[in-house]
Amino acid sequence: MSARPRLPAGFTLRAYDRLPSTNDKAKRLAAEGAPHRTIVWAREQTAGRGRRGRAWDSPAGNLYLSFLLRIAIPVERATQAGFVAAVALAETAERFLPSTSAVRCKWPNDVLVDDRKAAGILLESALSADGGLDWLVVGCGLNCASHPDDGRWPATDLASAGGRVPSVAAVLGRLAGALDGWLARWQNDGFAPVRDAWLDRGWGLGRALRLLQGDDDAIEGRFVGLADDGALVLDRDDGKVEAIRSGEITVAEP
Ligand code: BTN
Repeated sequence: MSARPRLPAGFTLRAYDRLPSTNDKAKRLAAEGAPHRTIVWAREQTAGRGRRGRAWDSPAGNLYLSFLLRIAIPVERATQAGFVAAVALAETAERFLPSTSAVRCKWPNDVLVDDRKAAGILLESALSADGGLDWLVVGCGLNCASHPDDGRWPATDLASAGGRVPSVAAVLGRLAGALDGWLARWQNDGFAPVRDAWLDRGWGLGRALRLLQGDDDAIEGRFVGLADDGALVLDRDDGKVEAIRSGEITVAEP
């Protein structure tokens, strides 16, 4: 494999030309004892997976990586890692895009560029025998050179959005640096700075949103914040404030 990325100290890189899914590989390596901060990177995936059992289109030219974390945190805080990754992905995208691009974090774990999805995150974890968190795999897909046209939400990639991407390895190097910085911030200062950075770019914050849960269930309310476990806080029209843990958000019809 050509062009190896530069990674911060303490990272272990496992690089592949092709894998079914970097998350699956990272989970296997985790079970075999791979160290904290292992990055599994593939130039392309043949069975890339998204959230909710969806496929993640994975041709060569985009970034596909899974980041293995072994951190002693309460299980209910594990979802915070998705927000750490979203902020790191957003910062990385900004590095390669024109300053006029609008990079937003969309709940729960997407990054949008000019309202189109450019990146997604898939978190998977395992518990240890004592019920604590054994490992966490943070799978990140960032569209650099191409994007699918058939998603539920319109998609884009850095090049289509006007960005200049020297190489996928360069994007990986940037993302690893951003993950390193935000991981340290999260571990040293807690979720508050991560939440603030995410909300600074929060898509739909303060607006009336519709939350889809399943095929028919939808609730509406104003998006007012993020709870400690990453739940979306909705101020509902009936005056109730509710913390939502799953679903997909869109703008509410006027
Ligand atoms: C989503 O938005 O639904 C999440 C997409 C996550 C895709 C990444 S690509 C690298 C890693 N390996 C996978 O199979 N999935 C994640």
